[in-house]
Amino acid sequence: MPRVAHTDTAIPLKEKCRSHSTNCETSIMIWICAATLLALVACLPSSVATATVTKDHVSAHERPKRMVGGLLADIIPWQAMVYLGEGVFDGGFAGGALISDRWVLTAGRNLFIRRSRNDTKGKEPLIPKIYLGISHRSRADASKEVVVEKVFLHPAFQNTSDWDNDLALIQLKEPVVFSETVFPIPLPERGDDMEERPGSLGIVAGWGWGNDLVQSKLLKFVKVPVASRETCHSHYKASDHTPLVDDNMFCTGPGQYEVNVCFWDAGGALALLRPEDNGVYAAGILSFDKSCAVERYAVYTKIGPYLPWIHEVMRGDSHYSARRSSILAHMLKRLQQKKKKKKKKKKKKKKKKKKKKKKKKKKKNMSCQKAIGFTPPVLGPLNTNRIPIE
Ligand SMILES: *[C@@H]1O[C@H](CO)[C@@H](O)[C@H](O)[C@H]1NC(C)=O
Ligand SMILES: *[C@@H]1O[C@H](CO)[C@@H](O)[C@H](O)[C@H]1NC(C)=O
Ligand SMILES: *[C@@H]1O[C@H](CO)[C@@H](O)[C@H](O)[C@H]1NC(C)=O
Repeated sequence: MPRVAHTDTAIPLKEKCRSHSTNCETSIMIWICAATLLALVACLPSSVATATVTKDHVSAHERPKRMVGGLLADIIPWQAMVYLGEGVFDGGFAGGALISDRWVLTAGRNLFIRRSRNDTKGKEPLIPKIYLGISHRSRADASKEVVVEKVFLHPAFQNTSDWDNDLALIQLKEPVVFSETVFPIPLPERGDDMEERPGSLGIVAGWGWGNDLVQSKLLKFVKVPVASRETCHSHYKASDHTPLVDDNMFCTGPGQYEVNVCFWDAGGALALLRPEDNGVYAAGILSFDKSCAVERYAVYTKIGPYLPWIHEVMRGDSHYSARRSSILAHMLKRLQQKKKKKKKKKKKKKKKKKKKKKKKKKKKNMSCQKAIGFTPPVLGPLNTNRIPIE
């Protein structure tokens, strides 16, 4: 997982990697890069390879080792391990977030072995194994596995790039029984916007690459600040191999001592604290997790804009959504018709009332005449076209 991003050693490594391959995007290329990095690291004295020389010039010996690339996490109850295979060539294991007793939210890319748009096009997502309530990867055994019922890739996953709509929902076969080590993280609610405030500090965890450039045996977490979307957008704009950061995404920068997320941390939730009530919520799902080796900013899929899709899938009724609309339209139409009819009826009633009134008046007039005992002389028809009243 998280490792130091821009160390004095990491920067030349990064450059070297780039010069060897201008495209670190496809998984094969990543592994060429990784191999290059590994070869370079192997050539370096171990003290240099693992040192974290940062801007504040604190040497690796003076600093507690755990600062290097994040702290070890006991257990993060909502952290799921989304497991495709042990090694990178069979998919590795990434992160996910338990959001209810039957649902895990993760990055769509985590359900493919080769993750670029060209590779996933037309392919069905894989069904991963899900482990809950673990920190050490050796605990990812049958006792901690929860069986997957179905996976739902976002319908617009990688529609226009490698990174857009990077979400998948994983339905569990049986509801999870919550405990001290397994419970969900809430989704954002109306008004939650800490991820839009640069400088907000969040926590993200994972089993991604450490300084040794292999997946971590232990779950680690880092505290990282939200970065301004504009800065992040313009930082990545020039490259085809990084996300084009839009309103459905947000970024975090490196944390203290340049800690950052790394390969295979994707899928983990950025947990933010709502200051009003100290409530925790999942603001985003880590999508672009290459910040450690390649870039500065981690990019997340912002959960807020996807809530309608998430709720629809969780309700399990997406195929009824068109039907629901037509029923409502029909009901509204009927209401309108009824209103019209009522209006008509009212009009009719009014007319009738008027007629009655007239009749009454006439009667009164007649009775009046009777009382007076005078009958006015009958006049001839004024209008010969008049329809006679029976
Ligand atoms: C993806 O495929 C298209 C068309 O086949 C090609 O032009 C493009 O270069 C490919 N992109 C990558 C990153 O391989
Ligand atoms: C994918 O992108 C195209 C072009 O931007 C758009 O017309 C289409 O609706 C998108 N598909 C989905 C499923 O969002
Ligand atoms: C009442 O009767 C008189 C005499 O028949 C008639 O001239 C008058 O128009 C009547 N008034 C009404 C309101 O019907």
